Amino acid sequence: EGTTAYIPVVFHVVLQNPGLVTDAQIQAQVDQLNLDFGGVNPDSTKIRAFFKPRFAKTNIQFRLAQRTPGNEPSNGIERITTSHASFGLNDSRVKYAATGGADAWDNSRFFNVWITDLSQGYLGYSTFPGSSVPAEDGIVIRYTSLPGGVAPYNKGRTLVHETGHFFYLFHTWGDDVGCSGNDEIDDTPNQANYTSGCPGDPVRLDACTTSGNGIMYENFMDYTDDACMVMYTLDQKDRMEAAMNTYRASLLT
Ligand code: ARG
Ligand code: ZN
Ligand code: CA
Repeated sequence: EGTTAYIPVVFHVVLQNPGLVTDAQIQAQVDQLNLDFGGVNPDSTKIRAFFKPRFAKTNIQFRLAQRTPGNEPSNGIERITTSHASFGLNDSRVKYAATGGADAWDNSRFFNVWITDLSQGYLGYSTFPGSSVPAEDGIVIRYTSLPGGVAPYNKGRTLVHETGHFFYLFHTWGDDVGCSGNDEIDDTPNQANYTSGCPGDPVRLDACTTSGNGIMYENFMDYTDDACMVMYTLDQKDRMEAAMNTYRASLLT
């Protein structure tokens, strides 16, 4: 139910050689985002049967911006040649032209994604709704995480995961090694810690979910490999759509 919301996205490619990232790769990334948010990703067959009823199709979709903030025609992609080999996590240099990055496009009208090289193997990070400097609102992802990038994070799921944060989702394990933290979502079982790799367990129990069907390691907000994170849940959908309408409604006009 609900009507589909289309979010205009701008990608700022900030690299010493920004031509390394092709338009086709960025289009493939947008396509993956739309498959995953639409709950029509073919690899959703990996969801174990007992979690299938929680598999969501959100009403959130993404389109490359067709105009610049100044109303000039655009394909929603800009390439900036920088002198910096990489940028650090939570380092806002990448978000400002004056420091070798790219300035955001008005965040009340555009969903800003910076594609760059991140130091120390970081894949990406996002701002949460309402918690940021407008000029720094958005997501930074490593260029190797795009479709066609470097395995096992080469199916575009880093941006899918970060976009979950952008719409107010937290990690399924609650960001603690324990069970007091949680993601404020009822239909994701609490996890003690994150999951790595590509689990294939029929049921994986842990310290916070000790019985039943165990933890939902196929969720986009866990830390598994791209090939194995394949779903948002119904309650995550509700929370993201509420965040969109509460904090980010201006993107839709
Ligand atoms: N470490 C990042 C974060 O917490 C992204 C993890 C993405 N995982 C992946 N399989 N692409 O926001
Ligand atoms: Zn995360
Ligand atoms: Ca936990």
